[in-house]
Amino acid sequence: KSLKNYNTFGIDCNARYFVSVETIAELKQGLFKKPSEALFILGGGSNMLLTGNLDAFVLHINLKGIEILKETETEVFVKAMAGENWHDFVQYCILNDFGGLENLSLIPGNVGTAPIQNIGAYGVELKDTFESCNTVEIETLNERAFTKDECAFEYRNSIFKNEAKGKYIITSVIFKLTKKDHKTSISYGDIQKNLAERNIQNPTIKDISEAVIAIRQAKLPDPKVLGNSGSFFKNPVVDSETFQEFRRNFPEAPFYELSPTGFKIPAGWLIEKAGFKGQRFGDAGVHKNQALVLVNYGNATGAEIWQLAMTVQKKVREMTGIFIEPEVNVF
Ligand code: EPU
Repeated sequence: KSLKNYNTFGIDCNARYFVSVETIAELKQGLFKKPSEALFILGGGSNMLLTGNLDAFVLHINLKGIEILKETETEVFVKAMAGENWHDFVQYCILNDFGGLENLSLIPGNVGTAPIQNIGAYGVELKDTFESCNTVEIETLNERAFTKDECAFEYRNSIFKNEAKGKYIITSVIFKLTKKDHKTSISYGDIQKNLAERNIQNPTIKDISEAVIAIRQAKLPDPKVLGNSGSFFKNPVVDSETFQEFRRNFPEAPFYELSPTGFKIPAGWLIEKAGFKGQRFGDAGVHKNQALVLVNYGNATGAEIWQLAMTVQKKVREMTGIFIEPEVNVF
C-alpha cells in the first residue's frame, strides 16, 4: 500500500502490510495477528521522514472520539482518542471555551502522537495541560495509563522517545483544561503584534487561537500544499563554553539562556546563516519563510530530503561550530 497520503512530507513509498484500526479491540487483534515483519505504528504521519519502502506491518491508529470525563466549576478533564486530528481537537476546545490548548493551534498530526515529542509552540507545551494517557503495551496487549510524571516530559522529548520507545501504543490522552479564568500565554512577540494589530486588549482563547493560526500560516507551509514535517531540526542547546565561542563569532545571533550552563540557539537562524533559506535542490528544499522547515516540492524522495538535511547539518557545523539534530523520526 502506498503511504503517500499518510505522511505529511508526501513521500511516495509502500508498506508491505497495512491495517487501519478504529477500536481498541481491533488494535489488540491487529497486534495479536501481526505477521513476523517489524511493526510500524502510524499516527498522523506529521513527524516522520520515510526514506524507502517499509518492509513492515503498518498499524494505522484511527481511534476516534472526544469525551468529557469530569468537570468542576473551573476545570474540565477531556479525553481525546489517539486518532483525532490535533487541530480539530484544539478547535473543539476553543468552541467549548476550554482553555489551555489555544497556542497549539494548527500543529499538524494527531492527538495520540502529540505526547511522544511533547509538542510545543508560542510559549506553551503539551505537558502544561496533559493529565495522563492510556496505552496498550505491544508485547502483552495489557492496557496501561501513564501519569504526567511518568511521561518525563522535556523540550521535544518524553519517555516515549526513551525507555518506553516502541513498547506502547498511545490510545487516548486526557487533558486538564480551564473553564474560566483561562491562564493565557501571550508573551510571544508575534502574538502580541497580531493582537495589537486587531486592537484586542483582553484576548479570549479564540482570539489567541486566531493569532497563532495567522502567524503559522504566514511562516509555515501548509502540508496539504507543500509537503513538510514542521521543524526538521531541534533547536540546539549548548554549554556555556560552546556558547561563548559561538557568541564571539556571531554576536548578532538570537539565543535564550535556559540556565547558566544551557543556551538555546534557534536552528532556523543557523540554517539561514549557512545560506540555505529558500534554496531548492530538485524537489527537496529549505522553506523560504522558515529555514527550520524542509519541504517537498512534489516528487522528492525521502532519500533526497535526508541528503539535504545532512548537507545542511554539516554546513551549519562547519560554519558555526553548532551541531543540529533532526527532530523528525527518520525511517
Ligand atoms: N529565525 C531565523 N531564520 C529563520 C527562522 C528563524 O533567523 O529562517 C530566527 C527568528 O528570527 C527568531 C528565532 O529564529 O529569532 C526563532 O524563530 P521562530 O520564532 O520562528 O521559532 P523556531 O525556534 O524556529 C520553534 C518551534 C516551532 C514553533 C515555534 C514557535 C522547535 C524545533 N520549533 O521554532 O515548532 O512553532 O518555535 O513557538 O522548537 C515544530 O516543531 O514543527 C514547530 C513548527
